[in-house]
Amino acid sequence: MCGIIGYLGNKDAYPILMKGLHRLEYRGYDSAGIALLQSDKINIYKCQGKVCELEKYCEDKNLSGITGIAHTRWATHGEPNDVNAHPHFSSDGRTALIHNGIIENYQALKTELINRGYVFQSDTDTEVLIHLIEDIKKVGNNELPEAVRLALSQVVGTYAIIVMSVDDPNTLVVARKGSPLIIGFGQNEYYIASDGSALVEYTDKVVYLKNEEMAVLTKGDDIRIKTIKNKNRPHYIEKLEMTLSELEKGGYEHFMLKEIFEQPRSVADSMRGRLNSVKEIVALGGIVEYEEHLLRARRIIIVACGTSYHAGLVAEYMFEDLIRIPVEVEYASEFRYRNPIIYSDDVVIAISQSGETADTLAAIELARQKGATVLGICNVVGSSIARATHAGSYTHAGPEIGVASTKAFTAQVTVLTLMALCMAKRKGKISKTRYATIINELESIPRKIKTILDSNDLMKEIAAYMKQFNNALYLGRNYNYPVALEGALKLKEISYIHAEGYPAAEMKHGPIALIDEDMPVVVIATTNGTYDKVVSNIQEVKTRKGKIISIVTQGDTDVRNLSDYVIEIPETEEMLVPLLATVPLQLLAYHVAVMRGRNVDQPRNLAKSVTVE
Ligand code: G6P
Repeated sequence: MCGIIGYLGNKDAYPILMKGLHRLEYRGYDSAGIALLQSDKINIYKCQGKVCELEKYCEDKNLSGITGIAHTRWATHGEPNDVNAHPHFSSDGRTALIHNGIIENYQALKTELINRGYVFQSDTDTEVLIHLIEDIKKVGNNELPEAVRLALSQVVGTYAIIVMSVDDPNTLVVARKGSPLIIGFGQNEYYIASDGSALVEYTDKVVYLKNEEMAVLTKGDDIRIKTIKNKNRPHYIEKLEMTLSELEKGGYEHFMLKEIFEQPRSVADSMRGRLNSVKEIVALGGIVEYEEHLLRARRIIIVACGTSYHAGLVAEYMFEDLIRIPVEVEYASEFRYRNPIIYSDDVVIAISQSGETADTLAAIELARQKGATVLGICNVVGSSIARATHAGSYTHAGPEIGVASTKAFTAQVTVLTLMALCMAKRKGKISKTRYATIINELESIPRKIKTILDSNDLMKEIAAYMKQFNNALYLGRNYNYPVALEGALKLKEISYIHAEGYPAAEMKHGPIALIDEDMPVVVIATTNGTYDKVVSNIQEVKTRKGKIISIVTQGDTDVRNLSDYVIEIPETEEMLVPLLATVPLQLLAYHVAVMRGRNVDQPRNLAKSVTVE
């Protein structure tokens, strides 16, 4: 939610900031703005809408300046309009600030500042912060860094901020709590951003600022890091693991399509070095030291949001099946606020593509406070969740830019499968033959995904049919139930068609009332233990004139005869079906959204990295 970027150096700041905004736009696209330091003035250009609107707005402006900050917004406080767009500036116009996060006590601070004579232009929580800094600077005659530090120590909430001032033209002050912030080092220059995608073409030397740390970046000087409580901190320069080509569409019309088609590679990458089918070895280096905790765990609790939650549901079925440890899967947002029972011998697994989801981070903190071991499954290297957990495994899916998650899901399920296999073997809960079969099958998944992607034209044809409806139901049982949830989520978030995922057998307890000739029902009906039951559910839909789109195992005839449209997927182990069956549903949602003229990569109201509650 919200992307921030800053530059301090010797080059023209505007092109760097503008390119960075485009890269960070997946984090929010309600408005965008840039502030440039020009001689002894800060000029701010900002407007409602996407980054390309700002670019147009800036066309005839003076955009010189070698220091600047820029912001792309996902609105929380104050509607998306020009005034609420960032950067925000001090009353005297000499200091400007951009912010990602939420100032929770902004109302109390605002009242106090209004009483002290400050006039507010916007409805945002952020504007409080800039006036607070201004006030502390003036009243205590403080330098900018100290004023920022003192202001932040009064703030309740989350933030990643960059502050610049005419009074200190060679310095940017940055700080973070909750929201991410990365600092890149160039030739006598600093690049700051919410994530590495905005810096990757300039430098691979970075520092990930830690929670409640601030940094003072001065041209020609060494970086100075301290905590908000005023303790000096050392800094460690790390290598940014990202390439430019990963951030480009590579000939595809949308990032989402590219990412769907990347899955044979991304699933293989998430297994690379961890699975050896010849030697029958499964190893997850990142959690080796915590394997004993997993083996001894009284219970496994999985916390996640959105698509990652659905990967967690697949894991629940798999872990209970293979390891025989009770598993609970919870939306992180519910878990953190419902006073859950957490034992010190529980293992909590947090799943997150971005590694920045605020609710998941809070759930991790809670679990750690209660003494549980917390493992993370993240895609973004160096992210907050990766750092907040005791240990974890990266999914290695590569940057995911489309807001609707696709390849991250299949990579998460792959890593969770490896984890389940590894533990099942160590616990002696799996026969040698079953273990070998699953390993072999897992290795063949990338190839099988490739064959599914070959049915892209069929998915287009089905999408042309689906696009006319305003509702859709997705049904599945057992391992296919989370697939139904994920299929429905994909359709609703990018096409804006109302879609619900349901366990097939639950249909008769409510959703069946919705079925008529205008209700397409997508059923995942692969051959497994509940196949016959699902066939009966399909018949119940047919009787009520519902339209059936089915996903079946290659060679199926029974379901085919009952369906209006059929998608075949290769046969595999039941627990691995989600890795295959999700793919055509991603394609279906994608094509429906394109045909409905939606902005596939940036659906309305959504953001990829949800750093607010
Ligand atoms: C947002 C995204 C979803 C994602 C969810 C959880 O809602 O739009 O695609 O699944 O956040 O994000 P995470 O990064 O924690 O997996």
